[in-house]
Amino acid sequence: MIKTSLDQAKQRLELAQNSDDLEAWRLEVLGRQGSVTAMMRGIGELPPEIRKEFGKQVNLARKQLESAYEDATANINTGGNHSSDVLDVTLPGTPTLRGGLHPITVVRRQILDVFTRLGFTTVEGPEVEQDSYNFGKLRIPADHPARDMWDTFWLNEQTSDEKLLLRTHTSPMQIRYMEAHPTPPIRIAVPGRCYRYEATDATHEWMLEQVELLAIDKGITLANLKGTLQEWARQMFGAKRKIMMRHSYFPFVEPGVEVAIDCFKCDGSERDCGICRGSGWLELLGAGMVHPDIIRDAGYDPTIYTGFAAGMGVERIAMVLQGVTDIRHYHSNRFSFLSQF
Ligand code: PHE
Repeated sequence: MIKTSLDQAKQRLELAQNSDDLEAWRLEVLGRQGSVTAMMRGIGELPPEIRKEFGKQVNLARKQLESAYEDATANINTGGNHSSDVLDVTLPGTPTLRGGLHPITVVRRQILDVFTRLGFTTVEGPEVEQDSYNFGKLRIPADHPARDMWDTFWLNEQTSDEKLLLRTHTSPMQIRYMEAHPTPPIRIAVPGRCYRYEATDATHEWMLEQVELLAIDKGITLANLKGTLQEWARQMFGAKRKIMMRHSYFPFVEPGVEVAIDCFKCDGSERDCGICRGSGWLELLGAGMVHPDIIRDAGYDPTIYTGFAAGMGVERIAMVLQGVTDIRHYHSNRFSFLSQF
């Protein structure tokens, strides 16, 4: 009999939707005129043999109901998961973290967008390369001192006759693409990761991204190279930018050049400019006219076809654009760094 009343009281408590309902329930059950109180009062009139046991049961039931009542009060006060108070659709939602593109991805896309507008098609090549594509076919034979320009991660596996490595630059794709395309014209941009076995510091990282350019056609000259890079520099760094080409050496081009842009921050006017250090120029990439031997090896007639090639480091350009002073930040995977972009 006590058990049934207890269950019924609990069920009714669950129906309470607000503090008025709760108070009504309290008066009805636990209040001075309440059902539990009435039962307690009745104990004295019971036959002595059941009085003790009955009293115990009633007390237990009262305690349970009191604590159920406290729980229900707490629930309603905190807007907790109690019946129909659950959902307040006017509350703001829990914000979710928004993702973003990696800063290097942003700059790679910017670079490729410009070259796409200039008529270059984007292609990609393997990161695990053969010795011959990374070096030999680019006129860098074994033991050639120019190999020192690219410290190499060699792999243990090897194809039947040559060693495998992690490509040190994207230039091997010049060869691969020419071999796969028997007749020019060619205009490609090749983005991709490269690897160098060297100590890291603020401007050197063992993994870097490059974008390679290759254009082969009848009558391509150094002027086309300069015009292409000039337009690229304007679109990347602002309409006023000028470029400067200085002689340099890469075995696969002749002549070879190093390309710099004039400083977009100070125009060379600030001695301690954080970007050009007062020199007025920012060294950005290597380039040149594709060596005639390479044109011939590809099966093209070098008296008819000429071309230019260029290779640029994406991190280097990103650092300049984003004001990052240590290249190692980019691949450190630190959220505090990445979330700034
Ligand atoms: N591959 C060269 C490097 O990684 C850059 C380059 C590309 C130079 C094409 C000339 C022509 O340093």
